[in-house]
Amino acid sequence: MKYEIDFRLKKIISVLFFPNNKIARFRKTAMPKVLAIANQKGGVGKTTTAVNLSASLAASGKKVLLIDSDPQANTSSSYGVRGSNEIPTFYDVLLGKVSVKDSAISSPPHGLFLVPSTPDLVAAEVELLKIESRESVLRKILTRDCDSYNYIIIDCPPSLGILTINALTAADTVIIPLQCEYFALEGLSQLLYTIRIIKAKFNPGLLIEGILLTMFDRRNKLSFSVAKDVKKHFAKKVFRTIIPRNVRLSESPSHGKPVLLYDQKCPGALAYLKLAKELIAREEK
Ligand SMILES: Nc1ncnc2c1ncn2[C@@H]1O[C@H](COP(=O)(O)OP(=O)(O)OP(=O)(O)O)[C@@H](O)[C@H]1O
Ligand SMILES: [Mg+2]
Repeated sequence: MKYEIDFRLKKIISVLFFPNNKIARFRKTAMPKVLAIANQKGGVGKTTTAVNLSASLAASGKKVLLIDSDPQANTSSSYGVRGSNEIPTFYDVLLGKVSVKDSAISSPPHGLFLVPSTPDLVAAEVELLKIESRESVLRKILTRDCDSYNYIIIDCPPSLGILTINALTAADTVIIPLQCEYFALEGLSQLLYTIRIIKAKFNPGLLIEGILLTMFDRRNKLSFSVAKDVKKHFAKKVFRTIIPRNVRLSESPSHGKPVLLYDQKCPGALAYLKLAKELIAREEK
């Protein structure tokens, strides 16, 4: 099977990336760095990346706010948090009912704070549509009371709706997980187009942090083929770290823990630690 890349993507993508080593210089100087994990394609590893990158950054000494902006609430359950009417959620934060500080739950590892969600977040999509400047609601919230965090990571739903638009408008950069499989780049041009529109209309500083290859399976020739082609065409825009397919990564959510606290030596845990180091190193250049 021949794996082919749509060459038009290369042109679009070059507008949206800065060389990696220049990202730190171009982004706004105030802390924290806001990263959206986005791809409207489902099941590519967004939540796994949000959960385990945030844990790895915290384990590397950073203070991290993780926002579950997906009504599926998989990020919350991956940390063992099942939202209910009793606890404030991201829905309440978005609608201005509670502050980030009052909704953020401290969860191991040390330094990690989670703003959880429930399926009720679906209703926020409707509520937001009634609000003026609905695209920048989250951006305004995050610029108010989040100075103490080093990183804010936002897990986006598999759609390009108003929740993803809010995340992209609030973000400094976007991480795009791509699963190492045949249809990896399907829909990527639509995502890049959305990012370009948001950059033009709402968030001129928005950049793509990088493409993250996920679920790489070394027993599968196609994984090598996809990784090689994506790297060939997008070069330095692809993270050096590749996330392997690792059963521990799919098991740890059912234990309500990031993989680092479930099996810290497994290949998935080591890969996400490496990704955190790669990100931190960019900031320190
Ligand atoms: N590297 C990996 N190795 C093995 N399993 C993985 C890996 N990454 C993700 N998975 C599994 O693949 C499935 C989809 O992953 P995940 O939920 O992170 O994707 P997603 O992009 O957030 O999905 P959605 O679009 O539905 O939000 C999950 O069951 C997850 O446990
Ligand atoms: Mg998800």
